Amino acid sequence: MWGGVVKLKSVFSIVFLFFIVDHAFAIDPVYEGANGIRENVFATNCLSCHSSEVSGPDRNYAPDSINFDTYEATILNVDVAISEVNVGAMPPADSGIPLLNADQKTALIAWQNAGFPRAAAAAPPAPLISPNGSSLTISLVAGAGLGKNADWWVVAYTPWGHWYYYVYPNVWKDIGTDLGGALPAYQGPLANISSLALFDVTGLPSGKYVIYFGVDTSMNGLLDYNQLYYSSFQLNAP
Ligand code: HEC
Repeated sequence: MWGGVVKLKSVFSIVFLFFIVDHAFAIDPVYEGANGIRENVFATNCLSCHSSEVSGPDRNYAPDSINFDTYEATILNVDVAISEVNVGAMPPADSGIPLLNADQKTALIAWQNAGFPRAAAAAPPAPLISPNGSSLTISLVAGAGLGKNADWWVVAYTPWGHWYYYVYPNVWKDIGTDLGGALPAYQGPLANISSLALFDVTGLPSGKYVIYFGVDTSMNGLLDYNQLYYSSFQLNAP
């Protein structure tokens, strides 16, 4: 059983900080701000039709109730808006306004995962772990935690009831049934990470795994549950 877990490999061998910098978002996953989603997604691709400032024929038949020029109006229809852009239905094909590019879509999805923060300063850190092919990938919207020192955690709960913790770049350690023995994967300031492949999950012994990625903003090597932000991914190895 050990063997399979040891096979979880880091697919990169460069330093963590380097890829954090390298994987920052092109567009901040928050509504407000010069580099935010209002300015770089809605203003560029939607507001010519979907703005409360635009009326009558200038709206090009965009419903009066669907606007993205204020945060409050946006939030009312944001889930539909994201699914429309993901399927390529908005902006309308005949409008001459381009569909969203990859940076815009990445920012929208991260913004959704973070619970649609209005401004970075008001948003708690939002870590996410999700599959991407055979590797598990993390992303992080740092929010108000941006630049704050933190313990970064990657831990796995295995089908045989043991916890393992991951230390960058390539180590998994069995700590038995007590998660209290975990050590951080990394220690350092929180940053925005759009997508970073961490390790390969092929070849695991079969069963159900739960893999967690979390950050806590007290950088002391301990799991500080009262300021821990995390997400998890359940993996069913065949
Ligand atoms: C050229 C004008 C135009 C632009 C630009 C445009 N839309 Fe639309 N939008 C429409 C029209 C017309 C409709 C109503 C007809 C329809 O649903 O296809 C609509 C409908 C919608 C709806 C409602 C769909 C539903 O099924 O209820 C959403 C959500 C939406 N648009 C989001 C967006 C987003 C997000 C953008 C920018 C990425 C955008 N639109 C850009 C014209 C536009």
